[in-house]
Amino acid sequence: MASSLRYATLVALFGLGSCVVSTQHTERQISSIDRSTLDGKLFVGYQAWFRKPLEDDGNSHWTTDTPSPEVGHVGVDMIPNITGYPSECLFDTPFTLPGGGNAQFYTNDCEGVVDMHFKIMADNGISGAFMQRFYGYINEASGGWVNILNYTKIAAEKYGRGFVIEYDLNGAATTSTNVTSTFLADLAALNSIISSPAYMHHNGKPVLEIWGFGIVTSVTVDDGIAIVTALKNAGWYVILGVQQAWHAELAANQPGGYGSVYQLADMIQPWTVGAYDMSSYDSFHDGRQAVEDANALRDMGIASSIVVWPGGSSSNANPSETFDHFPRWNGTFYQKQLDGAVNLKPTFIFGAMFDEVNEGTAILPLLRNKELPTNQKFLGIDDNMEPDAYVKMAGDAALKFASTS
Ligand SMILES: *[C@@H]1O[C@H](CO)[C@@H](O)[C@H](O)[C@H]1NC(C)=O
Ligand SMILES: *[C@@H]1O[C@H](CO)[C@@H](O)[C@H](O)[C@H]1NC(C)=O
Ligand SMILES: *[C@@H]1O[C@H](CO)[C@@H](O)[C@H](O)[C@H]1NC(C)=O
Ligand SMILES: *[C@@H]1O[C@H](CO)[C@@H](O)[C@H](O)[C@H]1NC(C)=O
Repeated sequence: MASSLRYATLVALFGLGSCVVSTQHTERQISSIDRSTLDGKLFVGYQAWFRKPLEDDGNSHWTTDTPSPEVGHVGVDMIPNITGYPSECLFDTPFTLPGGGNAQFYTNDCEGVVDMHFKIMADNGISGAFMQRFYGYINEASGGWVNILNYTKIAAEKYGRGFVIEYDLNGAATTSTNVTSTFLADLAALNSIISSPAYMHHNGKPVLEIWGFGIVTSVTVDDGIAIVTALKNAGWYVILGVQQAWHAELAANQPGGYGSVYQLADMIQPWTVGAYDMSSYDSFHDGRQAVEDANALRDMGIASSIVVWPGGSSSNANPSETFDHFPRWNGTFYQKQLDGAVNLKPTFIFGAMFDEVNEGTAILPLLRNKELPTNQKFLGIDDNMEPDAYVKMAGDAALKFASTS
């Protein structure tokens, strides 16, 4: 399933395998971000694909079938803390909580969930979200995903946040589809939503990100050139989410390499989930990010975005994966990257991801270890941490970044 692909591909590439919003928060005046620029901001990726299993169009990443404690019937390693979510957006699971009772999950196709998520972003000072649109589901022109995008627009406007559409190329193949015309038609169909005042702009243009050139190789270089050229001609500011080792392909100027696609980007965002761990982060930051990527981008005149992630675990979705593969070290791994990203002064920082509990990269309020269900193996955050510790870290970094960039 697509959820595992983004992570699994990187695992292969790199050989690695409620917030209860307090009353004073509710009454606090939330000031709006400036939607005309990405400069100095921190956005999170938003999968928004955690719908009630077997409903809608089947695009649920809790599990694709009936959740059960047996292996293969739950697709997430971490569990959101659902305190404060509207009860009509929650459903029971068969996972038994330590104090008795069953864990509840939320369904994303419920306006109150998206509202809650944007409120959490606003309360913590996160600028907004890059809403993921998977090519494999792009024909879902109405209903599920489009409703969720609409809720995203409404919540971003309400809480003064920004939003952007990010296409994920997973599911696209040059041989079977015209990706360019599919994107152009999709953007036209979504126009009533993306014409929102909360939709992010940069350098006077609406922003669009495409993730996956050089990773999803079923979309060829020639197609990549056609896609990026057409979107730029249509007036979009185009960010490309690319493989971590993107500039090697560029420097080698390999025939058939994706370098000629990367060169067309307005901004490059190397995808670093799984590219390093606690012990190798410093050398990655000092070498790859601060010198090699920075020099390549400067030479090409292309802007930069840095990805940060709190850790990773995807063993319920992929039983062959090591449980807690990229430990969080009680938040110190994330903090190191947030500090490192602020120090690199990219145009903006991208938090992977707000809600991705299947790959264990989620930062939204999560259950602690001692609060986890007992009849299935899950990963919690440290018992001494507040449920919203990770969104707070991200928001604090955003504040520091805004004041130094
Ligand atoms: C969830 O978060 C709330 C608010 O921070 C907290 O009171 C509660 O203990 C957490 N855990 C559970 C299992 O609800
Ligand atoms: C978005 O939601 C609003 C409010 O529920 C509704 O009026 C509008 O038709 C929706 N737009 C789309 C494109 O679904
Ligand atoms: C794909 O669609 C675009 C936009 O409609 C068009 O310009 C292009 O010629 C098409 N490519 C092919 C190979 O048909
Ligand atoms: C995380 O904190 C707990 C205490 O709550 C401690 O026992 C554990 O060793 C810490 N782990 C790491 C990796 O720092």
